[in-house]
Amino acid sequence: KKIAIAMGGFSSEYRISINSGNIVYKNLDRDLYEPYRVHIMQNEWFVVAADDTPYPINKSNFSVNIDDQNITFDCVFNTIHGTPGENGLLQAYLELLNIPQTSCDHYQAALTFNKRDLISVLKPYGIKTAENYFLNKGDLLNPDEIVEKVGLPCFVKANRAGSSFGITKVKAKEELEEAAKTAFAEDDEAIIESFLDGTEVSVGVITYKGEVTALPVTEIVPEGEFFDYEAKYLGKSQEITPARISEADTKKVQELAKMIYTKLKMKGFTRSEFIFHNGEPHFLEMNTTPGISQASILPQQAEKAGISLTELFSSAIEAALK
Ligand code: DAL
Ligand code: MG
Repeated sequence: KKIAIAMGGFSSEYRISINSGNIVYKNLDRDLYEPYRVHIMQNEWFVVAADDTPYPINKSNFSVNIDDQNITFDCVFNTIHGTPGENGLLQAYLELLNIPQTSCDHYQAALTFNKRDLISVLKPYGIKTAENYFLNKGDLLNPDEIVEKVGLPCFVKANRAGSSFGITKVKAKEELEEAAKTAFAEDDEAIIESFLDGTEVSVGVITYKGEVTALPVTEIVPEGEFFDYEAKYLGKSQEITPARISEADTKKVQELAKMIYTKLKMKGFTRSEFIFHNGEPHFLEMNTTPGISQASILPQQAEKAGISLTELFSSAIEAALK
């Protein structure tokens, strides 16, 4: 089967996505699949051949001509973080073309990529979250109102972004304006959340061999103020799998992450972040094309569960082709 590994994208997460895509390319089972690296950028989409020659993709049907041969794909392995791979755009395009892909469907992607909307959908299930305050670009910033709602310190985040781009931890009212600017550089919406003191954990939930499966839980211990870009990709954090929490708490947060996956009708790989605050897991956010580069958490969790990258990737394609 011919597999298009979609990588790149239009956001600050471009580089990370290329790394993730190359890991899939390297580890895909060559006995079962014929992988193609497909770079998707704002204006150009192209297949990168084994000798690195680029061949343009025909966007009207997602095919490519290589040496007089017209190639179509049986499945897209989606490793684009951020837009258009994690917010539903690519999903909707492929759904229209009837081409299966490995992540969730377009509505689920759009919903889960929007931090505010996801939280509002999860609240009625009794899932605890931080207090939040929402801002559109251009809204008048009212520091007193914000601090009254979420307190200090707080986190100012781009509402729809990943890899901690656009996030600032704010300790004083006067810092809010600059923090909002940072968030608005990534998205035209910002969400401001209260600081939750406690242990941060990351929970991978995947469909593995047809079963919704929670992977071992990872504890995040950043060296700096929070799990920012440097902590994530430049080694400035400890990621401890399994997390140093009780067996009961591990089970609780895994069940919660699985419940969210099932209720929202998710597919493929997901990785959700929680903070144990006052002994209870508080939901932060979900990633539906989680990083699978060398520095990423999901591959570490799969390895602890005894699942090789090759098995993990085969299972994702099998699920997408069902
Ligand atoms: N958004 C990054 C890639 C992650 O969730 O791993
Ligand atoms: Mg994220």
